[in-house]
Amino acid sequence: MKRVLIIAVALLFPVLGWSAVDTTYPNDEIEIDWDDKASMQRGARTFVNYCMGCHSASYSRYNRVGRDLGIPDKQVLENLIFTTDIDGEKTKIGQLMKTTMTPAYAEQAFGVVPPDLTLIARSRGVNWLYNYLRGFYVDESRPMGMDNGVFDKVAMPHVLVELQGYQQARKAMRPDGQGGEHEVIVGFDIIKPGSQSKSEYDQTVFDLVGFLDYLSEPYRQTRINVGKGVIIFLFVFLILAYFLKKEFWKDIH
Ligand code: HEC
Repeated sequence: MKRVLIIAVALLFPVLGWSAVDTTYPNDEIEIDWDDKASMQRGARTFVNYCMGCHSASYSRYNRVGRDLGIPDKQVLENLIFTTDIDGEKTKIGQLMKTTMTPAYAEQAFGVVPPDLTLIARSRGVNWLYNYLRGFYVDESRPMGMDNGVFDKVAMPHVLVELQGYQQARKAMRPDGQGGEHEVIVGFDIIKPGSQSKSEYDQTVFDLVGFLDYLSEPYRQTRINVGKGVIIFLFVFLILAYFLKKEFWKDIH
């Protein structure tokens, strides 16, 4: 019994040690509901309104997004397409979701070109995105007056600040795992409220991240349904094969 206890503690130790060191904030986790089309539609709206000024999702087309999320073409044209081409002509429904901002201009304005966001949910993961978009806080030492809890010295401005409001980071000293201490963020306090409450803002970001998750793998639902079909087929085939085998071996025994 004693030995079991020692092993259990030994196994738990890295977990406990890890959580004591890794207290960067925010670090919330979410679960995207792939069948919640309404949530993803709201996310798509936020995306085209607040993100596409700088970022593209240049592996997706508007009409495909509309079809997948159940938005009729007419509404896609009216509510999701706000970009134009160089001549000022409105982007067409079958075109790629590209920002109008040129890389040269972005480079000049931010020092970096905002990355394409089509696959961002794959490379960063949905939890990271959820915390990133809720993690901007006031820091006067930064050029934009803001920094981010999960992206240190971020060059992106807090574009959703009118919704979330301004927040301040609560900091504390924590062991850094190497015998010393370092300063980490342990929470945020709103110092100037935005137009949304905390839970409303969390929902807005959740919807947006859900949409980004969809963008990064639009065929996911198809893949899952095909997978189920294949498993059912193999199962039926297994039964048939079993009876066939019985039939063949009947005379031999
Ligand atoms: C005003 C321009 C601008 C707008 C609008 C904007 N971003 Fe950004 N974004 C940037 C820049 C610049 C960076 C690069 C930051 C860096 O590398 O420090 C960036 C980086 C990011 C990253 C990190 C990418 C990575 O992995 O390095 C994510 C995620 C992101 N933006 C998401 C969004 C979302 C979602 C929206 C809409 C709510 C949005 N951005 C709106 C300029 C913008």
